[in-house]
Amino acid sequence: MLALKQSTVIGVIGAGAMGAGIAQVAAQAGHQVKLCDNREGVAKSAIEGIAKQLAVLIERKKFTSEQVQQILARLHAVDTLNDFSDAGLVVEAIVENIDVKKAIFDALESICAADCILASNTSSISITRLAAGMKHPKRMVGMHFFNPAPIMKLVEVVSGLATDIDVATCVYDTALSWNKKPVYAASTPGFIVNRVARPFYAESFRLRQEQVADCATLDALLRGAGGFRMGAFELTDMIGHDVNYAVTCSVFDAYYGDLRFQPSLIQKDLVDASYLGRKSGQGFYSYQDGAEKPEAQIVSVSSSADTNNIRCEVSEDMGHLAGLVARLSQAGVPIIQVSGMAKGYLKIGRALLALTDGRMACERAKNEQLNEFVLVDLALDYQHAAHIALSRSASTSEEAFNDVVQCFDLVGIKVSEVVDSPALVVMRTVAMLANEAADAVLQGVASVEGVDTAMCFGLNYPKGPLAWADSIGVSDVEAVLRHLQLAYGEDRYRPSLLMRRTALLGGQFHV
Ligand code: NAI
Repeated sequence: MLALKQSTVIGVIGAGAMGAGIAQVAAQAGHQVKLCDNREGVAKSAIEGIAKQLAVLIERKKFTSEQVQQILARLHAVDTLNDFSDAGLVVEAIVENIDVKKAIFDALESICAADCILASNTSSISITRLAAGMKHPKRMVGMHFFNPAPIMKLVEVVSGLATDIDVATCVYDTALSWNKKPVYAASTPGFIVNRVARPFYAESFRLRQEQVADCATLDALLRGAGGFRMGAFELTDMIGHDVNYAVTCSVFDAYYGDLRFQPSLIQKDLVDASYLGRKSGQGFYSYQDGAEKPEAQIVSVSSSADTNNIRCEVSEDMGHLAGLVARLSQAGVPIIQVSGMAKGYLKIGRALLALTDGRMACERAKNEQLNEFVLVDLALDYQHAAHIALSRSASTSEEAFNDVVQCFDLVGIKVSEVVDSPALVVMRTVAMLANEAADAVLQGVASVEGVDTAMCFGLNYPKGPLAWADSIGVSDVEAVLRHLQLAYGEDRYRPSLLMRRTALLGGQFHV
């Protein structure tokens, strides 16, 4: 089945944030769109709201005023579901309540033609459950847009047990023709994005709970080293803790309490206190008038430091830290290759450095009898990272640590020292994201490409978690997870079977 023709009428029920956005997308793609809301006047005002947004796009030269007039002429506010009798696709975007949604689909079945596709924009309700009891359950599909729908590219095309593959393909192709990035997903709790993203929040919350660093520092590291647009604290403050906590609880419950999805007590505390984030004026940060956002803790560089004598001894195979060595070299730091130095190690001044493998610095220093040992966190791109986390074994001297800080300062990398903790900040987050992504693939929720596309286009991740694991080395990521699991003794960190198998075979996720 191909994409729906432009001549197909699209129905949208619910003219709130999502419904209005979806109606705009379909009208921009050339369809006649009927928009319905059970609150009087809401559909009409939603179209007026769309007109205002399109006016801004004329100013930005994205559309001509003639194009906008045509788009607006294709949008029709309708009063009842009976007006959907000529629709070829109806997208439901009403309140997130299964009984209310089921009643709508029940009514639509007796109004719409037998071949009209019925889609739900639900974030958390099973498409299988929505389709149960329908006369034609094969035509029921999830069409999960992201907020704001006209801007966010991702559409998860969600199949329940009964969904006809041709229906899912048609919705996928239609989303493509609407200039979206569709991915197929099986109807499982959280679909792709709301499941795979859980560790992004959970690991930051845990690091904070264990006092590894403060919120501002952890956020800054996820941005400056991880390349994420926002850190977990600022992002959940923006989403709203009530919303984010509810999604976490619903995924946790839906997976029968799998500890990998366990909600965080520090977020629950915020919800209990009604510290819901930006909208309530207080979350992890304060948004009261005059409140200043706290700064990340950066290790200061001593002004008397002598950077002229800094030199760097490196192993012949620097593994993932090769980009860092290249950056030091480009900045004029003398690089001396030392044969026989273990893979991935480098010496800066008095300090011996290595990328975290998930063990704490104290553990690694003790087991391998390393002196003046410093651990480096993962960066998305060491050539351009602005900020990095370091941790050290308690036996590492201030002088040795300062040699590293000075050297990094020389090349423009700010350093935050975090408490010696397994897998630091970015590595821990990325390893857990990749693990969840691998498990989603293992369970047939989506393909490797689908998961990575979903995370990049649904949440603007700088790299798909599985592509990221490939670039680090799957066996290295799997080792990080095993070390985390050993350190905590918790099931939460168990490597996915697919992660383990891929690591054992020496393979990668993207082939
Ligand atoms: P919203 O509260 O902004 O809008 C819902 C609209 O549906 C309201 O205007 C309401 O009057 C209308 N409505 C409620 N019951 C109705 C009925 N029986 N018949 C007709 N209209 C009815 O909600 P929002 O945020 O647009 O969410 C809608 C759906 O989209 C939910 O299923 C939600 O889970 C999902 N979703 C929300 C996202 C978000 O970020 N807000 C992202 C992706 C999906």
